Amino acid sequence: MTEKHERRTFLSKLLGGALAVGVVGVIGAVMAYLFPPERRVFNPARRRMRVARADEIPLGKGKQVLFDGEPVWVLHLKGGWSAFSAICTHQGCIVHWDEKRLILSCPCHAGLFDTNGNVLSGLPRRPLKRFRVSVVRDEIFIGPGEG
Ligand code: FES
Repeated sequence: MTEKHERRTFLSKLLGGALAVGVVGVIGAVMAYLFPPERRVFNPARRRMRVARADEIPLGKGKQVLFDGEPVWVLHLKGGWSAFSAICTHQGCIVHWDEKRLILSCPCHAGLFDTNGNVLSGLPRRPLKRFRVSVVRDEIFIGPGEG
């Protein structure tokens, strides 16, 4: 085989490979156009989020989690589980769970909320937004707010 023939063979293989890659790319683009990926429609009403195993939050304790970008307090109380938005209804500061006094307190203007999310004192006029809580096989889940 001559050097010229080897070069021609190499170039034709290179060209063939480039053509094959191009054809596959075009076919992929056409298929993606004809059969677009499934559109996922966000349905917040069906959504829930795992918070923890039940034994990870002892009685009287709380755990703050982010649900759809919103800080939420999940509380383990004598009557069961409750979850409230951690966003104060006065001006939006983040409330803290005070496990000694069993209240949610706002550091900004001394707003206080009871374990039902109702205002105890301070400047807030509306209760905290409540979230659904469910326990499935010792796992705690929260769902979208109720108000
Ligand atoms: S922001 Fe909470 S009391 Fe004002």
